Amino acid sequence: MRMRILVLGGTWFLGRAVVEGALRRGWEVTTFNRGRSAADSPGVRPVRGDRATAADLRRLAEEGPWDAVLDTSAPGIAPEAVRAGAAALEPVAGRYLLVSSAEVYRGGGAGPRTESSALHGDGGDGAGPRAAAAEGAVGGLFGAARTVVLRPWAVLGPGEYAGRLEWWLRRARRGGPMLAPGDPGRCVQPVDVRDAAAFALRLAADGGAAGAYNVVAPIGRETMGGLVQDCVTVTGRRAVPRWADGAVLRAHGVRPGTELPLWPGGDGGRPVSPAAAHRAGLVCRPLAETVMDTWAWLESGGRPVPHPRHARQGIAPEKEAAILAALAAER
Ligand SMILES: NC(=O)c1ccc[n+]([C@@H]2O[C@H](COP(=O)([O-])OP(=O)(O)OC[C@H]3O[C@@H](n4cnc5c(N)ncnc54)[C@H](OP(=O)(O)O)[C@@H]3O)[C@@H](O)[C@H]2O)c1
Repeated sequence: MRMRILVLGGTWFLGRAVVEGALRRGWEVTTFNRGRSAADSPGVRPVRGDRATAADLRRLAEEGPWDAVLDTSAPGIAPEAVRAGAAALEPVAGRYLLVSSAEVYRGGGAGPRTESSALHGDGGDGAGPRAAAAEGAVGGLFGAARTVVLRPWAVLGPGEYAGRLEWWLRRARRGGPMLAPGDPGRCVQPVDVRDAAAFALRLAADGGAAGAYNVVAPIGRETMGGLVQDCVTVTGRRAVPRWADGAVLRAHGVRPGTELPLWPGGDGGRPVSPAAAHRAGLVCRPLAETVMDTWAWLESGGRPVPHPRHARQGIAPEKEAAILAALAAER
């Protein structure tokens, strides 16, 4: 069946991978964005507009109907705009797939988080509460049977705009002793952008799919130590990781999340269970392959599109050197 889909966003990273995957499947793809971030992929039917403008949403709805809406830009915009968009599209779309985030889960508790773990409440700032509000808005309008929610942790791979893997790769290429964060055995659960896109398209085509899915790598398969070592290996084995305890990094004022990318601070929090997504067909390639392909993309001149929502990644070389010197003096 030739699917008709609408991608809200569609020009950057995951959105672009979804669009290109759909075009490869021979689907009819409409995109909706402001035309600011990057050009649309050739072959789509672009509709220009702002998600925060009611008249633009009405004009978009007139371009329907669609079998499915894939929303890759919701957590970046106000929950009221997500609600207004879902209200405008509900009469002309079969189902709504929302890319949310694993940050939607509230802290506390024990064991891996599953799709039924407690979420942030509505209200409040930050990625988690905004994603929770977006999920509530869409579910309220499309109903449980027509809503699919995807919750990735970190999405990595060629084209990544946030620059997290890019920073580790370039740092490893620079060589020498390299500061590495926390416990090398800490479980990380990134998903490759191509695997997340393939899963989203699979669910878009499945009329019976509904509910929330954690779109993450299997628990315990990938570690921060493995990620750092993969970066060292593909860039020519120039760097030597020096692992520093989280408490030491905090004492030196290292900012979690950005200065040493993919280090969340603290003990790293609880893992997220991907069991439901894996049962529904998510296949996660090994992280080593994502690292290798991202390096190949950078080496061939690939450059991320600057993203206003993402802070610059990476620690200043002088700050890193000072911490490494302090660590060496302690040993
Ligand atoms: N990367 C990660 O590690 C990660 C982790 C968890 C969840 N996620 C979520 O996964 C999704 C990834 O999507 P993505 O990679 O394609 O990136 P994205 O940065 O969310 O894409 C933004 C897209 O939406 C459009 N857009 C932004 N504001 C708009 C507005 N007001 N009206 C209309 N269009 C607008 C942009 O185009 P214009 O600027 O031209 O309008 C662009 O096409 C995001 O929702 C993100 O929050 C990502």
